[in-house]
Amino acid sequence: MSATNIHPIFEKMLARETKEARLNQKAKTLWFTGLSGSGKSTIATGLEKKLFEGGFFIQILDGDNIRSGINNNLSFTEEDRIENIRRISEVSKLFVHAGVITLNSFVSPTKSIRAMAKDIIGSEDFIEIFVNTPLEICEQRDVKGLYKKARAGEIKNFTGIDAPFEAPEQPDVEVKTDGKTIEESVQAVYDQIIEKIKL
Ligand code: ADX
Repeated sequence: MSATNIHPIFEKMLARETKEARLNQKAKTLWFTGLSGSGKSTIATGLEKKLFEGGFFIQILDGDNIRSGINNNLSFTEEDRIENIRRISEVSKLFVHAGVITLNSFVSPTKSIRAMAKDIIGSEDFIEIFVNTPLEICEQRDVKGLYKKARAGEIKNFTGIDAPFEAPEQPDVEVKTDGKTIEESVQAVYDQIIEKIKL
């Protein structure tokens, strides 16, 4: 789709730097990728609290929430996952340009899907965090009961079961949650990102 008859006004808007200075932070998208049940959302909510207490201004964008709202017309086919991530990347870019740090929790299962997100958001503003929890552990936890349904064939295209998950090869940050408490996982991510968001 090409954009015709539209007249962007970006140059008339307040600069991102002005907003970052007001919020006293560097806006970034912290992009959590990993299997369903790996702990992405749990770590993101823990980190949100910790960062907020530290004076940062944050917005969480979470697959399960977004798919019940703006993306409620999308399924889990490859095509719809791409559209899911494309839209949320554009939304993240808006937040980042408003000076806000976003914590994004999306399975985002393939290298190409994450490359697209990075491309839309901008590589300078995109921090990839791999929540590395083995499939066996996610399946044992099965917090939402979805693995059981996927194994029973009640859910199709389930990531890790009958749809692929390609682990990032060189994530900016990696956290292995197995054997760690939630607090330890949050702290591990915090330690690796804090300098990147300080103005
Ligand atoms: S993504 O692949 O398009 O990035 P997203 O993060 O938005 O996925 O949504 C994943 C969440 O949707 C999972 O945590 C899980 O709760 C739920 N879900 C439902 N069906 C599936 C499926 N087929 N594959 C993966 N997750 C699913």
